[in-house]
Amino acid sequence: FPKNDFKNNLVNWFLAEQRNLPWRLNKDPYRVWVSEIMLQQTRVETVIPFYNKFMQLFPTVADLANAKEEKVLKAWEGLGYYSRARNLQSAVREVHEVYNGQVPNTPENISKLKGVGPYTAGAILSIAYGIPEPAVDGNVMRVLSRILTIREDIGVPKNRKIFEQAVRALISHEDPSAFNQGMMELGALICTPTNPACLLCPVREQCMAFENGLVNELPIKSKK
Ligand code: ADE
Repeated sequence: FPKNDFKNNLVNWFLAEQRNLPWRLNKDPYRVWVSEIMLQQTRVETVIPFYNKFMQLFPTVADLANAKEEKVLKAWEGLGYYSRARNLQSAVREVHEVYNGQVPNTPENISKLKGVGPYTAGAILSIAYGIPEPAVDGNVMRVLSRILTIREDIGVPKNRKIFEQAVRALISHEDPSAFNQGMMELGALICTPTNPACLLCPVREQCMAFENGLVNELPIKSKK
C-alpha cells in the first residue's frame, strides 16, 4: 500500500479544498477544543452560529472559566446534550487553575480533562499543537475501513483502537493537523455513508475498497 501517496494526496487535497469554518481561522487550542466538543453530536451547519456566538461571549479560557454556569448553558441552548457544556466548563476551569490557562499538550495530561476522550484529545493535539496523534471518530473509521478494507465492526467501541493503529501507520508527521482534518473532511464531503463521490476522491487510487468494488459493503456496522 503506497502510504506516501495516500498521505500526500490527502493533505494536499485538504489544504486546497477545505471548507472555511470558523474554528479553522487559527489554531488556538481552546478554540479547537470548543469546536470539537460542539461537533461531537451536532452537525457542522448547526454548530457554526452557536460556535461564533460562544466565542464572542467566552473568547478565552479565562472568560469561560470565570463565567456563570447558567450563562454558559444559555449559550448552549439549541445544541442539546448539556452535559457537554458542563464538562467543558469544568475542564476549562481546571486548565485555568492548574495549567495557568494553557491547554495541556501531552496525551497523558489532556486525557485527564473531563469530557476529553481519545478523539477530542487527538484532535486538539494534532490540530492545535501539530502532534501526530490519531483523532478517530465514526467518520474517520468509515473512511479507513474503505481505504484499507478493514472489516472490523465500526459500531463496536473497542474496535476504535484498531483504527487508531491504522492512523499511526499513515499519519503525516509534516502536517498532522491537515492529515486528521483531511480525514474528517473526506468523510464529510466525499466518503459519505451512502453514495460516496468516489470519482471526486483525492485518494481513489489508494482506496482498496474502490479497487475491489467494496465501497458499498464497507464499513461493517452492526449495532445502532
Ligand atoms: N467534525 C469533527 N471535527 C471537525 C472539524 N474539525 N471540522 C469539520 N468537521 C468536524
